[in-house]
Amino acid sequence: MRWIPISLVLACALVAAPAPAQAQSVSFSKDLVPILRDQCVKCHNTRQPSGGFSVSTFAALEKGGKGGKSLAPKFEDSRLIKYLEGTLQPKMPIGGSLSKEQIARFKAWISQGGKADVNPQQVVIPDAAIPAIKVPVIKVKVPVLPEALALAWSKDNKVLAIGTYQTVLIVDPSNGQKLAELKGHADKIHDLQFSPDGKILAAAGGPPAQQGEIKLWDTTTWKELRTITGHADYIYSVAWSPDGKQIATASYDKTIKVFDTATGNEAKTLKDHADAVYAVAWDPSGNLLASGSADRSVKVWDVKNGKRIYTLAGHTDTVYSLAWNPKGTQITSVGADKTVRTWNVNAQNGQQARNVTAHEKAVNEVVYSPDGNMMATVSDDKSVKIWNTGNGSTAQHIKELGDGLFSAAFSPDSKLLAVGGFDGTVRIYNAADGKPVSTVIDLPKAPPAPAAAPVPAKPTAARTDGKAGKK
Ligand code: HEC
Repeated sequence: MRWIPISLVLACALVAAPAPAQAQSVSFSKDLVPILRDQCVKCHNTRQPSGGFSVSTFAALEKGGKGGKSLAPKFEDSRLIKYLEGTLQPKMPIGGSLSKEQIARFKAWISQGGKADVNPQQVVIPDAAIPAIKVPVIKVKVPVLPEALALAWSKDNKVLAIGTYQTVLIVDPSNGQKLAELKGHADKIHDLQFSPDGKILAAAGGPPAQQGEIKLWDTTTWKELRTITGHADYIYSVAWSPDGKQIATASYDKTIKVFDTATGNEAKTLKDHADAVYAVAWDPSGNLLASGSADRSVKVWDVKNGKRIYTLAGHTDTVYSLAWNPKGTQITSVGADKTVRTWNVNAQNGQQARNVTAHEKAVNEVVYSPDGNMMATVSDDKSVKIWNTGNGSTAQHIKELGDGLFSAAFSPDSKLLAVGGFDGTVRIYNAADGKPVSTVIDLPKAPPAPAAAPVPAKPTAARTDGKAGKK
């Protein structure tokens, strides 16, 4: 890409004339983006916004991270500059530092108004261009927090499958007894789905920035049947066709793929999303697929010809999860904009029927109860909501559950709801009244990962990174 020459030109210019701050006009895209790309984006991208801060777009950079806006009218007040100079700790970039001239560039630019010379929403550094992520498998040196990122409840009520890092735990939901451990997954397990006949469990994930991986497990012997690989990055979501003959996968690589289950062969690639796809779901007829993406849209596809039929627009941030109601007449989607949106849909088009700001933080998953009467949403705000699908009201709000929640699954009789999250605890509630029934599993807590550099030991830093694997 063009960035190498630009940064070289810039470097030469700087060596030749370390101009006083105000002298030259500084271009965001030409002068600063190359620095951000070389020095910052590996830790501050949409997938891994350390400290809540991403430099993928001007808008994200301006918005800042957990501590607030990064820019200010005067550079002395800018948090960005304070981090670069180390008056705010840890000094950025962690593991390196910018030259005085480079910092002077940022200061001069802020003094000149700190404006973007590109569309503020334009992705100036796509995650795909991040050099540090495109590396071979990195051995995990520190214990990874045992997040419960995915849950699936078998239709015979005998098994609750829990997706954690590299392992699926198979437990008896009635007593929490461990029945099996399914090992050998490349990384986090982002989604789990039982086949419609209950005979196979699909577990999806994959090594980030390399490929997607789905392992199919025989649910009587718990032996691996097949590993299907595909995609250029990991898979966030997997869905069985109602006849069990195909599985659809949604990937960080912006595509959806359909595989034939019997052979593992790729049947189709559905392309139309402009960004990572986090969710895919099959309608009960088996003719349509719905997908949700970081491009903020929900799309509905014709499975046979692989064409997008329509797009449901409305979300103002990443869509993390969606589900069809059991009748196939509605889709509910949730995401980073904290909303729960229900759409009336058919094979030709769809309309937003309801839009509720439901949680205080990102909503990570939505599931319908098998009887279709309820819906559950789980959020980074550590709470679960159970919804009455008839009138869209909140029936239960269960709060303060340890940490951000990522996954939810109803029991086959719709009476119980299991939820799991970052703290590795899977809790079961009575869906009707929200009362706790049991804690199925409380995964052993690993110590927080030691910081890579002199970061003040904040256990949340590790969590923030853990979120990279958003479902
Ligand atoms: C090796 C990883 C790494 C690199 C490289 C890095 N950062 Fe950071 N950055 C972090 C982490 C981790 C935090 C959160 C620190 C904390 O809150 O304790 C952070 C926090 C920040 C924050 C504060 C966000 C907020 O609002 O709290 C800013 C601003 C920032 N970084 C800017 C930069 C810039 C600019 C660069 C490049 C010049 C850079 N960082 C490079 C890891 C990195």
